[in-house]
Amino acid sequence: MSVGTPISALWPEPSGQPLDDAALIARYGRTDRPHLRVNFVTSVDGGVSVDGYSAGLSGEPDKRVFGLLRMLCDTLVVAAGTLRHEGYRAIRLDERRRAWRREHGLPAYPTLVVVSGSLALDPAQAAFADAPVRPVVLTRAGASAPPGLAEVADVVRCGDDRVDLAAGLAELRRRGLDQVLCEGGPQLFGTLTAADLVDEVCLTVAPLLAGAGPGRITAGPASGVRHLPLRHVLAAADGTLMLRYARD
Ligand SMILES: NC(=O)c1ccc[n+]([C@@H]2O[C@H](COP(=O)([O-])OP(=O)(O)OC[C@H]3O[C@@H](n4cnc5c(N)ncnc54)[C@H](OP(=O)(O)O)[C@@H]3O)[C@@H](O)[C@H]2O)c1
Repeated sequence: MSVGTPISALWPEPSGQPLDDAALIARYGRTDRPHLRVNFVTSVDGGVSVDGYSAGLSGEPDKRVFGLLRMLCDTLVVAAGTLRHEGYRAIRLDERRRAWRREHGLPAYPTLVVVSGSLALDPAQAAFADAPVRPVVLTRAGASAPPGLAEVADVVRCGDDRVDLAAGLAELRRRGLDQVLCEGGPQLFGTLTAADLVDEVCLTVAPLLAGAGPGRITAGPASGVRHLPLRHVLAAADGTLMLRYARD
């Protein structure tokens, strides 16, 4: 059943009909091979935040798709910067979404994975302390873990002086976690792009200008151009656009 602000398809097949959750799930789905999907919301003028947070960009249609993408993944990967700044809580799904996962042979909750070079993480943060599934922290060889972190998360070291994300993703696959949803932030997205690890980008464009000040959804050293074909365009009745780009 469709709830809240209607979302409909604009491209490739336009339809004036509101998309219910089943129709949205069919448009995003899971793949039959390892897949890294990145999800961001941006302003029309390319801003990553309003007053420092993504909340000012994310209306109800974005939250709906954001929640569905969490339901569809095996693992939710987030950079330590975004985890700290946005105050990530434990990844919880409502009963309807847990039931969908059970029906599709998935554990009730996705596994949270945090990428950190420094391990400046707080084990008491609810994302760790209250997690329904033991989280994984991807870090590098030399980083020293704060007291208590190993009690609440698996600390996986890949790479000597930097986190080797390709090796990290391989370790996640080894654990059966191959449908990866990355919720940012910009520095992690920049590194994943540079390493050519991004299979898909789901981009919500909020109908507002954030103005000068906020950064872009990607950051870090310059890297080569990657081509990513457009797969669908959805529009919500409040003017929010939802774009999905994916390579073959
Ligand atoms: N609009 C959106 O959809 C959206 C989504 C996410 C975030 N945001 C916004 O983005 C901002 C946060 O950005 P940020 O500059 O802090 O970037 P970030 O990518 O969220 O975090 C950077 C930090 O994460 C860790 N990290 C990221 N990539 C890494 C890599 N390749 N290897 C090792 N560690 C890595 C490092 O943590 P350590 O310091 O622990 O080493 C690094 O200092 C916030 O304003 C947030 O609201 C917006």
